[in-house]
Amino acid sequence: MLAAAGIGSRRACEELIAAGRVAVDGEVVTLGAKADPASQVITVDGERIHSNPTLIYLLLNKPTGYVTTVTDPQGRPTVMDLVPASPRVYPVGRLDRDTEGLLLLTNDGELANRLVHPSYEIEKAYVAQIRGPAKRRAVRQLLDGIQIEEGVVRVRSVRELGASGDKTLIEIVLAEGKKRQVRRMLQAVGLPLERLARVRVGPLPLGDINPGKFRPLTGAEVQALYLAVGMSGPASAAS
Ligand code: URA
Repeated sequence: MLAAAGIGSRRACEELIAAGRVAVDGEVVTLGAKADPASQVITVDGERIHSNPTLIYLLLNKPTGYVTTVTDPQGRPTVMDLVPASPRVYPVGRLDRDTEGLLLLTNDGELANRLVHPSYEIEKAYVAQIRGPAKRRAVRQLLDGIQIEEGVVRVRSVRELGASGDKTLIEIVLAEGKKRQVRRMLQAVGLPLERLARVRVGPLPLGDINPGKFRPLTGAEVQALYLAVGMSGPASAAS
């Protein structure tokens, strides 16, 4: 119910419950508690949740220097500084501080949850600027798989986009999203990364939007995301 009300991902909502911040009719509840949103008052930090929020979907071109978190204990700029504070939206997955490009933000908890869940294998495309050539052996290794701490990871595809001077641009497509995965993979195969940008999530390309700027998704784009995760579509969406 909390995720559906746009409070955050299911995981984030579980953490809120575990932290004792959620109450039903004034009683703090624990994980697994049941409630009827029609007849009971559900609150987070004392504030009533609305079970039918206006659904918001934003596409941000994240610049470098911003962390993908709602609050940063170290006080660094966060992606939340770049979008309106209300209605509240949450980042879908993460981009590293030094990574630029497409970041979705929404209050649609179920869609967000599915887009980041590995079982849906949503493709993410990145453009990496590397120093030197994209050596064939390194490219082969990226495709064949590399052992990292969490297991073997591989790219779905990799192709050279162009080279200028000692710089080469390559496009890497992943269907998984381990922490700093592109950076770790390129480091493992000895390709020195200078710049990294995400240019597509599932059916959604970054398109022509300046760094630091965002735009609402169109209805068709929201539908395409729903289709990509096997859902039939939101009841209502405001853009
Ligand atoms: N891979 C990375 O290394 N960083 C990101 O931000 C996303 C994917």
